[in-house]
Amino acid sequence: MAIQLPKSMSEASGAPKERDRDLEAELTPQEIVAELDKYIIGQKAAKKAVAIALRNRYRRRRVPSELADEITPKNILMIGPTGVGKTEISRRLAKLTSSPFLKIEASKFTEVGYVGRDVESIVRDLVRMAVDMVRQEKAQEVRAKAEMNAEEKLLDLLLPPLRRKDNHSPEEDIQRYQETRDKLRRQLRDGLLEDRQVEIEVRERMSPPLEIFSNAGVEEIGIQIQEIIPGFLGGKTKRRKVKVHEARDHLLDEEERRLVDMDQVARLAIGRVESSGIVFLDELDKIAGRESGRGPEVSREGVQRDLLPIVEGTTVHTRYGLVKTDHILFVGAGAFNVAKPADLIPELQGRFPIRVELSSLGKDDFIRILTEPENALIKQYRALMATEGLTVDITDDAIDEIAQVAEDVNGETEDIGARRLHTIMEKVMEEISFKAPHIKPKTITIDRAYVRAALKDIVKNADLKRFIL
Ligand SMILES: Nc1ncnc2c1ncn2[C@@H]1O[C@H](COP(=O)(O)OP(=O)(O)OP(=O)(O)O)[C@@H](O)[C@H]1O
Ligand SMILES: [Mg+2]
Repeated sequence: MAIQLPKSMSEASGAPKERDRDLEAELTPQEIVAELDKYIIGQKAAKKAVAIALRNRYRRRRVPSELADEITPKNILMIGPTGVGKTEISRRLAKLTSSPFLKIEASKFTEVGYVGRDVESIVRDLVRMAVDMVRQEKAQEVRAKAEMNAEEKLLDLLLPPLRRKDNHSPEEDIQRYQETRDKLRRQLRDGLLEDRQVEIEVRERMSPPLEIFSNAGVEEIGIQIQEIIPGFLGGKTKRRKVKVHEARDHLLDEEERRLVDMDQVARLAIGRVESSGIVFLDELDKIAGRESGRGPEVSREGVQRDLLPIVEGTTVHTRYGLVKTDHILFVGAGAFNVAKPADLIPELQGRFPIRVELSSLGKDDFIRILTEPENALIKQYRALMATEGLTVDITDDAIDEIAQVAEDVNGETEDIGARRLHTIMEKVMEEISFKAPHIKPKTITIDRAYVRAALKDIVKNADLKRFIL
């Protein structure tokens, strides 16, 4: 394939407009809560707090810049027992916001194997995500052009261009060539050539994914290599025979890469991280408590001290440039059943001024959790069984029974919140799941009696509960 010199870098981006797209599609706090309501039952205070914090990102971006610099995010600490929706809220939030959003378990930094994993990697990961996000947007912008170019290249593969000396060939040759090419183009567009084989040149991937290196020094080296490779060394290229549709994907990808101005992408991405990045620090309680004492764990307090500057605002070096963390919003979450927020070092406590508590869940919540959310368990199981041609009806009193058992077992053994529903539902559905492909009457009704029968061994035996449910 011919090597094309990159055209002017501004080709992709157009005029000098450097201002980032306004993330105006941002939802209002009420809309955010309404979205969260679709998946999470109850927990109003937490939803409200995160909705406000999210909206404040958007508000700050519209405040005159001298003042905006002064407005630091009000970090949130979500406290609540296990299995009541803390992580779920963050997962859903991530999908709602157009801000770069990273969720990470604080405990990661204390694990063996992660020893020395520097917390600055949080910021690097965030930037990497933002870069992907911006790159995709930019790719979208150049998509039409990339598609056109890819089509031309594909045609070149199917019908090599006339060589220069052929250009001097008689008019009619050229015309014939053009006609053939046009015909091919039509066939291509009509999808008639999809299975035809063509030969493309692909880069062999040389460097392993960067994630492998996680301490700063190596990452910096990785940066250099990565930065150089795509442009120059490019890995080795090798020729590969592929079908047209595969070649098209490849060419399109290549064109998009060529048309997108990566310098601009990096600048915008860093801007976004700095002004609206959000980091969700899950399992924050796992790094609370002064000293873990034994084992090869990295000291918890050490991790807190490492985190502190990032939460307070510092500058982190990333492969895309320097990133100021002053305005990144942090949402911490943890069960804090052993360690308390007060066990965090005071400086860090102070950086999470907003505390919201999530309440533990009871029978009524369970009933709603089983049925209402868009991803409700009952809906999931029904959909799964439907693939076997099976219609499963679960009556209201069956659901009532399941919720009751969940509450009872949570009370008698360990309160694991809504997670209990997963184990109970699995047990209830076990036989049907197992036999589904062979069940003859294609409609099954699960009622209270069925649930009781399915769970009777467990409900009777408190000891067993501990293990099975
Ligand atoms: N309020 C809720 N509404 C709907 N589903 C919930 C709710 N709380 C928990 N769940 C469900 O229970 C499971 C566990 O919840 P989640 O992961 O949010 O727990 P958590 O609060 O983060 O617990 P942990 O402290 O153990 O991390 C998820 O599948 C989630 O969908
Ligand atoms: Mg969690």
